[in-house]
Amino acid sequence: MTRLAAAALLALVLSPATLAAADGQQAAILDAYAAKARAADPAFTGFSAARGEALFRREWNGGDPRTPACTSCHTANPKQPGRNAKTGRPIDPAAASASPERYADPGKVEKHFSRDCKSVLGRDCTAIERGDHITFMAGQ
Ligand code: HEC
Repeated sequence: MTRLAAAALLALVLSPATLAAADGQQAAILDAYAAKARAADPAFTGFSAARGEALFRREWNGGDPRTPACTSCHTANPKQPGRNAKTGRPIDPAAASASPERYADPGKVEKHFSRDCKSVLGRDCTAIERGDHITFMAGQ
């Protein structure tokens, strides 16, 4: 097989349409964060929706003054559409039940955790915090 054909085949295999449900991708993202969490802390026993909710609702006031909390943009009710506190643009609900395409694209998930956590906490979120957040939102 030529290199080009191999690349095309790989792209086909990896394209969202050929993958199983978003649930499978979400589980893969959580597995990857769990592996990182275990590497960082051998006492890690699993993600917690309660911790994820606490992080989501807490007023951190650590980054951009326009965004003291995750709820500044995603609102206190994850099933409701949000609004970007910086740009005013609407945001689809954060809850997986309301936005089934969420937490399924590793690149998008990584990008938003890095950007949004810095804006709110003033630092990046850890692998445990990321897994906790997705676990919380998956149950919403
Ligand atoms: C400045 C506004 C803003 C704040 C504050 C914010 N977010 Fe976001 N977030 C967004 C936007 C905009 C998107 C992309 C929206 C979309 O895809 O519809 C997003 C998407 C995400 C995603 C990707 C979801 C997906 O579709 O897979 C995650 C994860 C996320 N945010 C987590 C957080 C967490 C955790 C916090 C708090 C630490 C937070 N966000 C605070 C604006 C914000």
